[in-house]
Amino acid sequence: MAACFSCDAHASEAGLLAYDIVGDAVPAALGGLLGDPERGREIVLDRRSGNCLICHALPAIDQHFQGELGPALAGVGERLSTGQIRLRLIDQSRINATTIMPPYYRVDALSHVAPEYIGQTALQAQQIEDVVAYLSTLSSSP
Ligand code: HEC
Repeated sequence: MAACFSCDAHASEAGLLAYDIVGDAVPAALGGLLGDPERGREIVLDRRSGNCLICHALPAIDQHFQGELGPALAGVGERLSTGQIRLRLIDQSRINATTIMPPYYRVDALSHVAPEYIGQTALQAQQIEDVVAYLSTLSSSP
């Protein structure tokens, strides 16, 4: 039977840090962790962890097969606040219920999860903060 992680009790059992959503943002860093933009860049470019490039294009990066399913991430640091970026990574479906972007910090209601990954988030809290720190540096000029 699939475990339910949607209520607070089960979320903390799965080791998820609590966060508060204010408007369309999560203003406070997960667990108060400090993000490292360099590590965040590696996560975004890594085809095995974030796999963001399957859907997004990044500015000034020599990577083939950048995706077009999501908006290009150039200038995202100017368009969105860090809190807005954080919520979009944690769980884009809070903003758009029919989004195809996977939630990176949620363990409930995921489909097609291999048994060994049940109860794990796609990215850890530190990795979310690293990616938030990196994306915040992206301005529209390359
Ligand atoms: C399966 C495709 C897919 C993947 C993988 C994906 N995204 Fe997205 N992303 C989208 C789509 C589509 C949107 C547009 C918003 C929506 O769907 O509601 C989006 C929106 C965003 C936004 C908001 C952009 C804006 O201008 O409003 C950010 C930031 C973002 N994604 C970052 C990421 C990062 C970082 C990763 C990797 C950790 C990632 N995405 C992985 C599809 C994807």
